[in-house]
Amino acid sequence: MKQYSKRMVIAHWLTLGLLVLAWYLGDSLSDSTDESRATLLGYVVHATAGIALLLLIAMRLFFRGKDGTPPATGNAVMDRVAHGVHHTLYLLLLLVPITGILTVLRSSVAKALLAGDASMLPKAHGFHGLLVHKLHGTLVNVLIAVVVLHVLAALKHQFIDKDGLLERMMLRRK
Ligand code: HEM
Ligand code: HEM
Repeated sequence: MKQYSKRMVIAHWLTLGLLVLAWYLGDSLSDSTDESRATLLGYVVHATAGIALLLLIAMRLFFRGKDGTPPATGNAVMDRVAHGVHHTLYLLLLLVPITGILTVLRSSVAKALLAGDASMLPKAHGFHGLLVHKLHGTLVNVLIAVVVLHVLAALKHQFIDKDGLLERMMLRRK
């Protein structure tokens, strides 16, 4: 096998799209809370995007187990680094939505959603230093940093090494 399976490729690029969406929605939500004007819909939309991403990653890991991955490139050190980065990305892609769900459950957001009452939502600094809320925001930042590293590595392969690695993550079959 020289390329990732088609369903792995689709899941990879869908992950990128959903991550950008969930990140943007989360950031806007946090700004709204800081200004005490967050809405129930804002929470529902962000949580839906985040849970969709969690389900996508679960499916992606299932596909990975069934379809396998293309062979290592042969550069022992870089293969180990890539392996480490890919596993870190999967771990973070699971931990970020899980901490998001816990933030909802451990704060007044869950009660506000159940009651359908936006006045019960946290106001500015309303999460009162809730550890899992801080963890959610911090893990998102770590995830973005690792994604940047991953994209830089892909660009290096494409434009410096010119080894066609990107083709492994493309729908067009060689
Ligand atoms: C990979 C998926 C997700 C990403 C990328 C993401 C991203 C973010 C970001 C960037 C923030 C703002 C953090 C800050 O500035 O402190 C945030 C806040 C939050 N997220 Fe997520 N999130 C994800 C999944 C989820 C899920 C699944 C839930 C709940 C079901 C959730 C619930 C929350 C809550 C409650 C907040 C706090 C909002 C506030 O401060 O008012 N997130 N998220
Ligand atoms: C422009 C953005 C991106 C580019 C150009 C890109 C490119 C690639 C390429 C070429 C591979 C195959 C590497 C190999 O065969 O060794 C790959 C794998 C991977 N990418 Fe990306 N990627 C991007 C964005 C992302 C994002 C946003 C995530 C997740 C947050 C991600 C997660 C992964 C993971 C986990 C793998 C390993 C797949 C596996 O072995 O199961 N990528 N990426």
